[in-house]
Amino acid sequence: MTKFFIYPVFFVCITITTKAQKKTIDQKVDSVLRLMTLDEKIGQMNQYNGPWAATGPLTGNDDIVTQIKQGKVGSMLNVTGVARTKELQQLAMQTRLKIPLLFGQDIIHGHRTIFPIPLGEAASWDLKAIELSARIAATEASAAGVHWTFAPMVDIGRDPRWGRVMEGAGEDPYLGSAIATARVKGFQGKGFGNIDALMACAKHFAAYGAAVGGRDYNSVDMSLRQLHEVYLPPFKAALDAGAATFMNSFNDLNGIPATGNSYLQRDILKGQWKFKGFVVSDWGSVGEMINHGFSKDNKEAAMQAANAGSDMDMESRSYLPHLAQLIKEGKVKMVVIDDAVKRILKKKFEMGLFDDPFKFSDEAREKAQWNNTTHLEVSKDMAKKSIVLLKNEKQILPLSKQTKKIALIGPLVKSIKDHLGFWSYDWDDDTARIPSLYDAIQTKLGGNSNLLYSKGCNIIDTSKAGFAEAVATAQQSDIVIMYVGEHRAMSGEAKSKSNIQLPGVQEELIKAIHATGKPVVVIIGAGRPLIFNWTANNVPAIVYSWWLGTKGAEAIADVLFADYNPSGKLPMTFPRTEGQIPVYYNYYKTGRPAANDSDVNYVSAYIDLPNSPQYVFGYGLSYTSFNYSEIELSKTSLKGNQTLTASVTVSNTGNYDGEEVVQLYLRDMVASVVRPVKELKGFQKIKLSKGERRKVSFTITPEELKFYNTDLKYSWEAGDFQVMIGGSSTDVKTGKVSWVK
Ligand code: BGC
Repeated sequence: MTKFFIYPVFFVCITITTKAQKKTIDQKVDSVLRLMTLDEKIGQMNQYNGPWAATGPLTGNDDIVTQIKQGKVGSMLNVTGVARTKELQQLAMQTRLKIPLLFGQDIIHGHRTIFPIPLGEAASWDLKAIELSARIAATEASAAGVHWTFAPMVDIGRDPRWGRVMEGAGEDPYLGSAIATARVKGFQGKGFGNIDALMACAKHFAAYGAAVGGRDYNSVDMSLRQLHEVYLPPFKAALDAGAATFMNSFNDLNGIPATGNSYLQRDILKGQWKFKGFVVSDWGSVGEMINHGFSKDNKEAAMQAANAGSDMDMESRSYLPHLAQLIKEGKVKMVVIDDAVKRILKKKFEMGLFDDPFKFSDEAREKAQWNNTTHLEVSKDMAKKSIVLLKNEKQILPLSKQTKKIALIGPLVKSIKDHLGFWSYDWDDDTARIPSLYDAIQTKLGGNSNLLYSKGCNIIDTSKAGFAEAVATAQQSDIVIMYVGEHRAMSGEAKSKSNIQLPGVQEELIKAIHATGKPVVVIIGAGRPLIFNWTANNVPAIVYSWWLGTKGAEAIADVLFADYNPSGKLPMTFPRTEGQIPVYYNYYKTGRPAANDSDVNYVSAYIDLPNSPQYVFGYGLSYTSFNYSEIELSKTSLKGNQTLTASVTVSNTGNYDGEEVVQLYLRDMVASVVRPVKELKGFQKIKLSKGERRKVSFTITPEELKFYNTDLKYSWEAGDFQVMIGGSSTDVKTGKVSWVK
């Protein structure tokens, strides 16, 4: 049933509803567009931040309420909750044409129920779980009046100095594309028109993660071949999965700011890829083209951004004051405005907002979702799957629930909010829902164990005043669990770091506790790969737990005491020092490759450091062990479009049931351009009971052999290929095939 509430311009209703019921959405969009003045059109291209929250610098204090009533605003960000969104939507209903507002928000890893940070989720390699996490975020956010999330961030991250690696899926284009697809599907659910669908936004288009020096907002200069091969695939995957919108980025790419970049937005996205949604600028990125020295003033910035295909201006306040004049001067064509407005209106129609602008304004639904305890269980499940076991010498883990005296030491042991990570705001503010690790272990063990606690030190300051007490606490225990790392706001936007060592004196605390001779388990919570070489070399058991969300501490406790067998694998390489960065597994072949880590004789190597990182991409242990058979290939010589099947038999040879991520890599031996040493081309996460074995097969076609040549043509070349299958990017079994055209 079509509803129009307080729609006074009645003839508009009639145009849109009665006859239009049978119209396609495009026809409906056209009929609204025909009624619009230029100012109303420009209003649709304008997005403001809600006055209550800011995720960037505020540009002005315009009277937003008046402007909404005047039809000068098409969308608001950072407005959440039924009460507030409804209030603003009511203002939009006072405009001449009653075009509803779109409410956007960064729903990055959960809304009320917080899930692991996206990099953590990526470590699960579990696409179904990741999709479900996004689905639940969408269910909660849409119930709170939000229509649109600025997620997923699909930027490839090869530089852990860049704080925003926490927000992506890591370093690999194949894994990144699979996860982008899962997240878009999860957010958008069964499709627009459904009450729990949230519009997704693939961001930041493009190459934002390759900022020079890992410094946020910095320049990017890269070959177009690398752009297409490494940085663009997750965006294309998001688009193919139906992403409603794209966000451009703060960086310039090869000299042209992404926001004013027609090659990216017009040629690739809207041209070659035929994207039908709309592009929103990043926060203030239109106006920032002045700082880039690309636009002389706000007016020129508006012209360049609109002409380059940025459809909506987020918080720059460049479009509203200048586009009408630019049209008069012929510097922006009407078709540019019409195209942008049509794209925006189309999404509003698809979301059902023209039918019912208050569709997402149901207080009862909001309340029910706010306290949905099933979501907590799903969040905990995702959290367990995201944990990576980095080291477990002498099977020190899992711990017995009968352990008499456990010392819990470290600055994160009693921490609560840190579990939520960056980009979680304070929605989950009910601390009773968020246990600390101390609480979670106490609850799990009940009266069985005596828990001792000492903080030892803080996260970032250098005081060692608490060391003595921590050492004394350790001495009284049977085993020590240390929980160290970053605090939640140390990784995220504008959180670049030149030093990514375990902060403060935490590693010294680990040394002091280790010196007691007690068995030590170190848990590291962080939003990025950190460096902790001493710990990696000396401590017998290390668990990497990222930030795992509302139920994160319970998930860690489950892993420590064998209620869950860890199965995560690293989605990013962990360097030994910052000097190795950028560091990633799929580097290009050099003319002087080092034979091994000690080979430094006029080869591509450091004389003061092994080439290998501390932990490789795809690495992660389990409490059980997996054995891989040699690779079985269906053929070793192939022709044209034939299909190759590559298989291994994986056996669970340990004492626990467990899950393993079986990874397929390919290496193109000789090609017309230099190719990476290996590239991930497939993976399967399998569950094997103790003693069980299973054949795992991958199908390889010429599609998997394709790459961008010097003319940016995506095709494959005949030749020899190595096929590798294993449990990480370096621990693989290898076979060889030749493939002719
Ligand atoms: C970030 C975006 C985010 C936007 C709105 C910007 O600073 O780069 O990723 O969506 O703010 O919060």
